[in-house]
Amino acid sequence: MRRGRSAGKWWTGTGYGKAILIGEHFVVHGARGIALAVPRKTIVRLRKAPSLRFAFECGRLLKEATRAILEKAAGSTDFEVDVESGLPVSAGMGWSASYCVALARAAAEAAGKKLGDDEAAQIAFEGEKIFHGKPSGIDNTLAAFGGVMLFRRGEGQRQLKAGGRFHFVVANSGKKGPTKELVEMVSGMKAREPAEFARMVEEEERLVDGAVDALGRGDVKKLGELMDRNNALLEKLGLSTPKIEKIRRIALESGALGAKITGAGGGGCVLILAPDGKKAKEIVKKLGKYGAFDFTVG
Ligand code: PMV
Repeated sequence: MRRGRSAGKWWTGTGYGKAILIGEHFVVHGARGIALAVPRKTIVRLRKAPSLRFAFECGRLLKEATRAILEKAAGSTDFEVDVESGLPVSAGMGWSASYCVALARAAAEAAGKKLGDDEAAQIAFEGEKIFHGKPSGIDNTLAAFGGVMLFRRGEGQRQLKAGGRFHFVVANSGKKGPTKELVEMVSGMKAREPAEFARMVEEEERLVDGAVDALGRGDVKKLGELMDRNNALLEKLGLSTPKIEKIRRIALESGALGAKITGAGGGGCVLILAPDGKKAKEIVKKLGKYGAFDFTVG
């Protein structure tokens, strides 16, 4: 975005964007989830200013989160903040978490420190709480560590190794609802139907076990199946939309092995698994009007 080249040193920080492979929402309730970095990042630049100011348009929550992170990482909020991101906002790709991590890193640099991934994730969590209420921590942890990560709330992350090449496509169905409200909606269902919700959590945990195994063995077909089953759970929770299902249908009819909501749902992005790189490119073409892009893991 707008950035003057005039006086003042700029400090820079970066945060990864993410897709959730298995486990969004359930991860808020203590189940494990798997997230992976997408090759799109958020970069924050800071320079000293008489008081906090922004080189881009932003709302109240972003201002509040920025203050909290600057205080924690730099002990001052007297900065001009600028941001540049390849991630769509409010689309399930972890824009806010990648902003919070990038900001924490830039602020620490300004204060003459270098943050480890754990510290960056922890400071960013303060911002995520302002954006989302009671986040699980999966987004800010992935935004700091990157890679492919198994996560459980309160336990942190473990990096997973892919035993083969996995070709993913991301397509955007359009703006989703606020994560906070969607998380509250799921919590409401849990309160009304605790036994049914517990059954869904058990099923989700089985999907996570299967996905860890499929990733490790390079079993693309199996991983696709598990993604579809995860989507069925999310659909049952009321998190899918006609546009999401349309994108899934186009992808599956074009040869995808699996496709699911990624992130909070209610709109936002769809994560698709293709059998190979050539098919991934074809799916990107078919979903061109949904801003589709592809990337490889492993
Ligand atoms: O849609 P996003 O990028 O805000 O991802 C939210 C992921 C949830 O599992 C729904 C919430 C959380 O805190 O884990």
